[in-house]
Amino acid sequence: MNLTTELRPGVDQVGYVDYNVRDFHSYDTRLGATYNAYLIRDEKVALIDTVKAPFAAQLKRNVSSLVDLDKVDYLVCLHAELDHAGSLPAMVEACPNATVVCNAKCKDALAGFFDVSAWKFQIVENGESLSLGKRSLTFVNVPMVHWPESSVAYMPEEKILFSNDAFGQHIATSERFDDEYDLAKILEEAKSYYANIVAPYGRQVLATLKTAETLDIELIAPAHGIMWRSHIADLMKAYPAWASGKYAPKVLVLYDTMWQSTELMAEEIYAGAVEYGQKIAKENPNEPKLDVQLMHVRKTTLTRIAAEALDAAAVAFGSATLNACLMPAMAAALAYFQGLKFREKTALAFGSFGWGIGGPEMIQKTLETLKYPAITEKPIKAKQRPTAEVLAECREAGAKLAQAAWERYLSDKK
Ligand code: FEO
Repeated sequence: MNLTTELRPGVDQVGYVDYNVRDFHSYDTRLGATYNAYLIRDEKVALIDTVKAPFAAQLKRNVSSLVDLDKVDYLVCLHAELDHAGSLPAMVEACPNATVVCNAKCKDALAGFFDVSAWKFQIVENGESLSLGKRSLTFVNVPMVHWPESSVAYMPEEKILFSNDAFGQHIATSERFDDEYDLAKILEEAKSYYANIVAPYGRQVLATLKTAETLDIELIAPAHGIMWRSHIADLMKAYPAWASGKYAPKVLVLYDTMWQSTELMAEEIYAGAVEYGQKIAKENPNEPKLDVQLMHVRKTTLTRIAAEALDAAAVAFGSATLNACLMPAMAAALAYFQGLKFREKTALAFGSFGWGIGGPEMIQKTLETLKYPAITEKPIKAKQRPTAEVLAECREAGAKLAQAAWERYLSDKK
């Protein structure tokens, strides 16, 4: 099968839609993914990015359905990560007259993955343009969006920004453009993608957005998912909020439990937060309602947790004690939070134990590492089943978390 999508005459999407991928280096790609590559046929022929290595044959079929492979002049690599560069060796071999175009850091990164000693390279500097004939590509380095060598390419004649990882989403679909698919779903997946992939680099994303603002863009062609042409304004409104970690009025109660003691505590924290939310909803009928979510971390993917955590203003973390330690799924969630470097959140540590200590204390310690201000000096703990007093403490803590989340939301709104 070959299947391509025309963006403009002579500019086509030739990548691969991967309906069946469910694990993308731990990202839960519940809707599949796409690896978008773009072919430009002008006086010169350029292919922007490739696809994961197992789909190289499909990429070759798509490209060769539009142009003979020996007519390809440039293989542009915007990012060396293997979902985009994985098929580059196969394309170098299949396109004997092609030169690999990338920045110097990207060349180094490619050399770390492949034997590039026989490859022809043309190194492009930040801001440099490559003429393809009637059209051209201007390269802009966007370090850490998502790797140090990441770059984007702008085609001024067609007003297209080839944005690589930026503005992507993991959605496999036969629709290709943002006006052909449910916008709310695209934005939800774009947010999840941002939270899980790009969140640690918010500062760099904001700088990239500033660059994008200076360009006249009619079409954003990312390396993942749906292309933006009708809802660029919605995207440009959402991305700065995600990149700056803008708080939503949202509380997450995350927990793992062994014999439901920690779960009873989590439910009480959740109830306290919901109750407080009901009170502020009555007092503030024109404001969004407080969003309170209860998540068993062993039954929820890290991908979903991160997507919800991105704009949460307060988070409670609870764990039973297992072998004087945390439950493993909570340890994984906390490690994920550490890596993603979300903006600080008001927090609470809680949990249960039998004879040894460990779970709740380890959470409290991790909150210090995360620099999340905790609403209690010590974790709320229950020895085996929580007593009525402990449950009352949990309910009160839930209300405090909700109040803190509301205040953070209001303060960001100013
Ligand atoms: Fe889609 Fe950072 O690779």
